[in-house]
Amino acid sequence: MESKRSSFSGKIGFVLAAAGSAVGLGNIWRFPYLAAKYGGGVFLLVYIILSVTFGFSLMIAEIAIGRKTQLSPIGAFKALDKRFSFVGWLASIVPAIILPYYSVIGGWVMKFTAGFIMGNTAEMSHDKYFSDYLGQVWEPLGWFALFIGLTSLIVLFGVKKGIEKVSKVMMPILVVLILGISIYTIVTMDGAIDGVIFYIKPDFSKFSIMTVVAAMGQLFYSMSLAMGIMITFGSYMKKEIKIEKSVHQIELFDTGIAFLAGLMIIPSVFAFSGGDEKALGQGAGLMFVTLPKVFDSMPAGNVIGVVFFIMVFFAALTSSISLMETVVSVFIDKLKINRKLSCLIVLIISLFLGISSALGSSAWKNIKIFGMQFLDFFDFASNNILMPIIALLTCILIGYILKPKFIVEEVELSGKFNQKSMFNIMIKYIAPIFLVIILVSSVLNALGYIEI
Ligand code: PHE
Repeated sequence: MESKRSSFSGKIGFVLAAAGSAVGLGNIWRFPYLAAKYGGGVFLLVYIILSVTFGFSLMIAEIAIGRKTQLSPIGAFKALDKRFSFVGWLASIVPAIILPYYSVIGGWVMKFTAGFIMGNTAEMSHDKYFSDYLGQVWEPLGWFALFIGLTSLIVLFGVKKGIEKVSKVMMPILVVLILGISIYTIVTMDGAIDGVIFYIKPDFSKFSIMTVVAAMGQLFYSMSLAMGIMITFGSYMKKEIKIEKSVHQIELFDTGIAFLAGLMIIPSVFAFSGGDEKALGQGAGLMFVTLPKVFDSMPAGNVIGVVFFIMVFFAALTSSISLMETVVSVFIDKLKINRKLSCLIVLIISLFLGISSALGSSAWKNIKIFGMQFLDFFDFASNNILMPIIALLTCILIGYILKPKFIVEEVELSGKFNQKSMFNIMIKYIAPIFLVIILVSSVLNALGYIEI
């Protein structure tokens, strides 16, 4: 099935496709709420440092593995070292865990899009609107089912290309809107500037190991690392394209959009709550609670709200398509079933897992796993446990078994590898030590020994 691999056309094709998969709810929904919760400027600083060192090295490694082996993750790890075959499997489980709860959040985005279209902006800007909504059973379930259903149909009928074209047009509009909303908030709202300072100026007294744990988890999620996706992308990349330069571009794009999303949301939180700790630490609901207030206070906010949420919806949809596509193709290849059946199986698993996440604040709110609701648990298990394990094993394989030269050679096929020494040190020493610390902290946190 993998006899003939197509490749991306043109130089920019690869970067756009990889960036399209990287940019999603992770940037717009997840990054701002983590930055608000984990100390603002200090989180931003840690995130940026990790992104240009650790994220850079791991992304280089994954893309080079894909391009060198010309295989999908499961095949690639097996080809590199038989003992590491299970890492490919592990990596393939991650998108299967993320997809269901990603679709629950995609459902929230759809609900808000519909709300703005119907002109309910004022109602949606009430503090309790979002939590009341999550407290319901049927509506969140319905929107979730609609989102995952739509994703399945697109994956099944292979109209992915069309959607990606739409999203490429929408991405620049989204960036302009985010910028516009940020400027509007900062210029017109009292107290917003304190939010900008909180977000940009690191306050080291707010630093803790959990800042690093959260930033690292976010890095995996946002850059689509440690889940085989970049290996797959690499397998489609032409040999003459410069891996290092492409990675820099993807990184800049992904981190840039996340940064701007934070700049849009955090100052608004300050404007509406005066920087109250509780408002900053509210977690997953931050964007859904804050943005309607901004749109409600804005001239023509209703229309801007509609356009903005439609863009976010498309960004979420392209990501969910790419997540589902990954799982579906693993099933097709490994279970030797057809696309239709594979889609159906993935849809059923996702519905099953997603229902628990959708009901975590209502019917099933008393069920906790390690003290977390289902959605938080799936998010934590993938980003803070599984992905660090996969990344650690990848570093061991590259750093000690195959040796970094294996990757360096592939990168150098298309030119000089400027940050070669940093890559070597990261993969062999810094990243593995770091990953062990992250894993231990995550486990201790889940067991209740340290506060996250
Ligand atoms: N990186 C995407 C985001 O930030 C999530 C994603 C992961 C999408 C893996 C596709 C594949 O939302």
